[in-house]
Amino acid sequence: SEGPDRGVWRYREGLPFDLGVTLPEGDTPLHRVPRIEESVGVDALRIKHEGMNPTGSFKDRGMTVGVRVAQELGVGALACASTGNTSAALAAYGGRADMPTLVLLPQGKVAAGKVAQASLHGARILEVDGNFDACLDIVQALAARGEAYLLNSLNPFRLEGQKTIGFEIVEEFHADYGTYPDRIVLPVGNAGNTSALYKGFRELVQSGALSVDEVPKLTGVQAEGAAPMVEAIEEGNDEIRRWEEVETRATAIRIGNPVNAPKAIPGIRNTGGTAVAVSDEEITEAQRQLAGEGVGVEPASAASLAGLKKLRREGVVDADETVVCLTTGHLLKDPDAAYEAGGDPEPVPNDVDAVVEHLDG
Ligand code: F0G
Repeated sequence: SEGPDRGVWRYREGLPFDLGVTLPEGDTPLHRVPRIEESVGVDALRIKHEGMNPTGSFKDRGMTVGVRVAQELGVGALACASTGNTSAALAAYGGRADMPTLVLLPQGKVAAGKVAQASLHGARILEVDGNFDACLDIVQALAARGEAYLLNSLNPFRLEGQKTIGFEIVEEFHADYGTYPDRIVLPVGNAGNTSALYKGFRELVQSGALSVDEVPKLTGVQAEGAAPMVEAIEEGNDEIRRWEEVETRATAIRIGNPVNAPKAIPGIRNTGGTAVAVSDEEITEAQRQLAGEGVGVEPASAASLAGLKKLRREGVVDADETVVCLTTGHLLKDPDAAYEAGGDPEPVPNDVDAVVEHLDG
């Protein structure tokens, strides 16, 4: 059903409304991955697969709230800049709410599945000759001029929806293990999720549901080619130095100016977490490993597992820790990356004997 008793809206007491524009979203699986758990060498490892949301990413949790707020405000149009997933979600939720949507994408740097979604769900798509950060600069200026309502993660209502990721994780983990996870590892782009999870956990502490030391250590992972958050955490800075040049196969997190850093940096520090950068090769290997255990994710999502593996190797993560890795988007978002990582199909003749020969040979 679409009622308020499932997914994101089960947590309506902590949200601005009782029900939003819903498809519905949330209630994503917390997969067991025993082979990966064993090879990483931690006490417990679970994968919170946000790719199982209606448009295939965690952005849906934000949009169900954000577009509801836009309706309430009576705005005429919705807009966002995006590395892809936000645009797909905004287009779908805008369509559901019968509101026009405008999306700005970095030209040539958005995975095929995401552009296809934004297009078919009816967004007007502008491809900017620049990276994501440039798109966000432009759309912020458009919003300031009253052209449209901004639904990037700068919009605090979106983060209200996304904080339910943390609620679901601690609830389900506790039901299975009787404790809370020591650590949550998540990919970082604009650091919206990191900020959202931190806000959600602070609210759980304030309400008495969690004690301060039960809050999982928030651990952010970026691609080496786009790692300004990692730089800030490692250098102990409170502010980000914007990277003008960014590159990674994980195009979803190809971001040089994480706009939620002022909220996310305290989240990482105050929970005792850290931030780490991983190579594209490490991301691809983690993507293969997850897929091998049936969990299909896009490259940016696999950064979380790649980061955990690196931190475990370096001894930053202990063998007795319990960990949840967040996978943020579905494999089908980026079919080209999946093919590259998985290998090509083998052509065979239309003949049984030839097929058998091919298999044996
Ligand atoms: N993983 C995926 C699959 C994403 O699409 C994004 C962000 C992130 C991780 C990073 O999350 O920004 O909260 O730190 N994608 C945005 C977009 C930028 O436009 O779709 P964050």
